[in-house]
Amino acid sequence: MALPRDAAIVILTGAGISAESGLRTFRDADGLWENHRVEEVATPEAFHRDPALVHRFYNERRQSLATVQPNAAHLALARLERAWAGPFLLVTQNVDDLHDRAGSRQLLHMHGELVRGRCLGCGAIHPWPGDMDQASRCPTCQTGRMRPHIVWFGELPLDLDRIYDAVERCDLFVAIGTSGHVYPAAGLVQAAAPGARTVELNLQPSRVASAFQEARTGRATDLVPAFVEELLGG
Ligand code: APR
Repeated sequence: MALPRDAAIVILTGAGISAESGLRTFRDADGLWENHRVEEVATPEAFHRDPALVHRFYNERRQSLATVQPNAAHLALARLERAWAGPFLLVTQNVDDLHDRAGSRQLLHMHGELVRGRCLGCGAIHPWPGDMDQASRCPTCQTGRMRPHIVWFGELPLDLDRIYDAVERCDLFVAIGTSGHVYPAAGLVQAAAPGARTVELNLQPSRVASAFQEARTGRATDLVPAFVEELLGG
């Protein structure tokens, strides 16, 4: 069914949309990094216990951004945003910058961003393209130590008010490349307005697939451009 061009769209993406760019997803791999469970590296407790280890983990991931490019799925979502007349919001759980580099602007990184750092002293957030370590200091207050601007397990995702506000008002909610394991992102589909159309695009049905009206399985670089063409009437 065609969607009116002024309809409100919210799209949620996860690691699956970046998989074909060459970034490993969390749960398709074995969930391990150098024999550490990822959940054990990505916590405030881990950072407190062993900041050097946690910095090394995120430095590696930040460096890997230089070796990857946005793929056809990222580019299709940027094209949809440019062409769509109605309200549009892209919410990503990904900490990579591939949506940004594809040209998406109405974009919220609910789990933070690899390319930013946050001061543990004054809270200032700064672009941080290179490595970070315990000697890194805040450019604003000059004294505070820095941490990755990443939402760790046990921390509250960013921009939740804006996200729920958009989801509750949307006419179309689409989840792409996310396994449905991590809340609150996995529960956003339940917050969509009763009349909203809900669609999941994923390599395999996610853990919350039954909450969507429609689930399409396949690769993001196939499914997303095709879905965008449908919406734009191409
Ligand atoms: N195209 C579409 N979907 C894919 C592709 C692909 N090429 N490759 C993998 N997938 C799907 C997988 O089937 C899986 O359901 O993407 C999903 C990736 O799931 P996860 O690895 O669990 O990633 P995500 O859902 O984004 O994880 C959520 O968990 O570790 C935390 O904070 C981290 O943001 C992350 C959150």
